[in-house]
Amino acid sequence: MIKKFGILANPAKHSLSPVMFNAAFQAKGIDAEYGVFEIPENNLSSFIDQVKHEPISGLSVSLPYKEVVIEYLNQVDDDVKKIGACNTVLNKGGILYGFNTDYKGSNTALKNVLGPLENKKIVIIGAGGAARAVAYGAMKEGANVYIFNRTKSKADSIAIEFAEIFNSEIHSGSLNDIVSGDVLIHTTSLWTKEKGSKTPYNLPPKFCNPEYIKNFELVMDISYKTLNNPLINTAKKLRKHVITGDKMLYYQAIEQFKIWIGKEAPALIMKEALNRSLV
Ligand code: ATR
Repeated sequence: MIKKFGILANPAKHSLSPVMFNAAFQAKGIDAEYGVFEIPENNLSSFIDQVKHEPISGLSVSLPYKEVVIEYLNQVDDDVKKIGACNTVLNKGGILYGFNTDYKGSNTALKNVLGPLENKKIVIIGAGGAARAVAYGAMKEGANVYIFNRTKSKADSIAIEFAEIFNSEIHSGSLNDIVSGDVLIHTTSLWTKEKGSKTPYNLPPKFCNPEYIKNFELVMDISYKTLNNPLINTAKKLRKHVITGDKMLYYQAIEQFKIWIGKEAPALIMKEALNRSLV
């Protein structure tokens, strides 16, 4: 019987996960298909029943479900508990297991450019679910993490929580407090919101200013919806190392494949499929 996988999100139609996974299944001769489950919030519970009974073997989970999905799962690993978000579900005989591959994707993207992250000064902008995963990953590798957010209190809460988990200092502040470092990682939903507006980026945020960017060796953005955004464009002009949002998506997908299929992913095939779909 053909195995079913898919992305659970709302909206979900923009997702580039289907092209990567369907190419991977085909290349490996796996009888499986990866679809799109764009589920309204009031239908989440009945959809999870469908996942268990249809059955659907695995889910990628994205906005707005990464946090709320946890309460529907039978078991989650330690990373999910600590990050407070799950982006990968495995269905084994109707028992649902939750994992987080986002932080692994972020770490791999960073390590490919920087090598070990230990003692690197990593400055994160944003304090939503994505920022939590990125900060968690960096702290797990022994980096010095600084987190800045429009709403300072949210950055402060992450700092307090993760300082306790890792028994290590983590700094926080508002967007006016941004300090220099080795890496600047942008995780807010700013580009996603602005895309499609009539006057996009009329007022790029202050952290896109060359005066800030010049203080970093590497700039990473995690949104793959607008690869050429003011931050990345400024960093490129300053000839900084740049990691665009498709990289985290790609590396976390390779980890998802391993969790679902139990084998190494056909990484090159997935990369080529993703690159063909990027605008
Ligand atoms: P995700 O799970 O993708 O991180 P989220 O939890 O909704 O999404 O978090 C969105 C992040 O983008 C938050 O850090 C948010 O800042 P606030 O905590 O102050 O809301 C940030 N964000 C969204 N719009 C922003 C804007 N116009 N300027 C600065 N930060 C913005």
